[in-house]
Amino acid sequence: MFLGMDVGTGGTRAVLVDEQGQLAASAASEHAPFRVPHPGWAEQDPEDWWRAAQEAIREVLALAPGVPVEAVGLTGQMHGAVMLDEDGQVLRPSLIWCDTRTQPQCDWLHAQFGPGEEGRRKLIELTANPALPNFTLTKLLWVKEHQPEIFARIAHVLCPKDYVRFRLTGTYAMDVQEASGTLLLDVAHRRWSKEVAQVAGIPESWLPQLFESPEICAKISPEAAALTGLASGTPVAAGAGDQGAGAVGMGILEPGSVSATIGTSGVVFAATAAPTRDPLGRLHTFCHAVPGRWHVMGVTQAAGLSLRWLRETLAPDQTYDDLTAAAAKIPAGSDGLLWTPYLLGERTPHLDGKATAAFVGITATTTRAHFTRAVLEGVAYSLRDTFTLFSELDIPVKGVRLGGGGARGPLWREIQANIYGYPCERLTAEEGGAFGAALMAGVGAGHWADLEAACADGITVAETIEPHPATVRRYAEGYAGYRRVYPALKGIRG
Ligand code: XUL
Repeated sequence: MFLGMDVGTGGTRAVLVDEQGQLAASAASEHAPFRVPHPGWAEQDPEDWWRAAQEAIREVLALAPGVPVEAVGLTGQMHGAVMLDEDGQVLRPSLIWCDTRTQPQCDWLHAQFGPGEEGRRKLIELTANPALPNFTLTKLLWVKEHQPEIFARIAHVLCPKDYVRFRLTGTYAMDVQEASGTLLLDVAHRRWSKEVAQVAGIPESWLPQLFESPEICAKISPEAAALTGLASGTPVAAGAGDQGAGAVGMGILEPGSVSATIGTSGVVFAATAAPTRDPLGRLHTFCHAVPGRWHVMGVTQAAGLSLRWLRETLAPDQTYDDLTAAAAKIPAGSDGLLWTPYLLGERTPHLDGKATAAFVGITATTTRAHFTRAVLEGVAYSLRDTFTLFSELDIPVKGVRLGGGGARGPLWREIQANIYGYPCERLTAEEGGAFGAALMAGVGAGHWADLEAACADGITVAETIEPHPATVRRYAEGYAGYRRVYPALKGIRG
């Protein structure tokens, strides 16, 4: 068996995957909810992830007693800054991925590389990405400015799953996919960027050794073995951030393969043969978990969250199935009602943390079912914005796989196929990042030659959803209207 661990935001999940690449057991332990000491801040305690990781591992091992674990792979929420002193002690709670306090530090960092747009362009040249408040480096810069006494004691910086690895093995390590989201990586060359570290004032000695995702980089320590039930000396693969590992778990490896995943947020992810930069920084350009490949992705902040918000706010007495059954009876295009899903600002394509959501086109005949359908369509239009950027940047799309909660019901699957305009595949089982991390462990342990072989064993397509030409045309008109909403509302918001 191979053990995959996903140190998420809400909890940590551990899965066992067998040598045929099939899920054998799964267990999870919740985290304490992240703290929001001020609007826009988000903090968690690394010790709590370690507690949850131990619980999830013990629980999953109990489901398969006596079966040896050959290797462990890790994934988790990306971008969080874990700051440790020279003894490996946590110095302060982690600022996590959805903490957006650091816009002033983003502006400062761009300014260090040149005036106005030039600074931003230079940073994109060096790291393939602009400074965004989600990224790790900007969080370190906030601590430097506001808590210099803590900054002075930092000796090691890790991301969340890499901290769990440190507790499991005593080793400071990070994979290149995760490192891409720190803003300290020279993404094109898959190594730390000396220039960015120097300009930002981050000693290189703080940065852990880098590995490709399937590489074995550490071994379970005797202390961690006693706490978890894993055997001391079990090899641990580098793994990847949740988006990289999730893509592996859906078989998105070859250039041209693309996934559209709707969870709380929504991500359109494409594997690429080379680092493809967006000069305007609207897409993230990261190293892929596949050695020698890269990926781009666009992020819709409130995707599944839009539907949850609608239900909680307008229809708390309805189930999701009730809501979507009613929405299925409304014609494609929701009789002109549009939803722009910017409940949490937006990353792609607007890079505007202050963007707000809107329904546009309400009439006296608009019903609750129209609102539901418009939400499903608006989220898919927002993900289509990433496909539009892909075509602007000549990023090929050869096939699309659907994942997350958005792939579980037929209506949202059909809406996506017709709005994206591509045939979309649904997998028999979509197990998320922990599954991908387990496949990486299997490759690291030498059971599979590479991730392609692991995915060929572990992943099966259940269904292809073909777009219907007339509906595609209807949605092309709807999308043109959708694209006009954000600029119009930005003018009103001031
Ligand atoms: C990726 C991202 C999220 C987090 C939390 O850029 O911000 O996927 O990793 O899941």
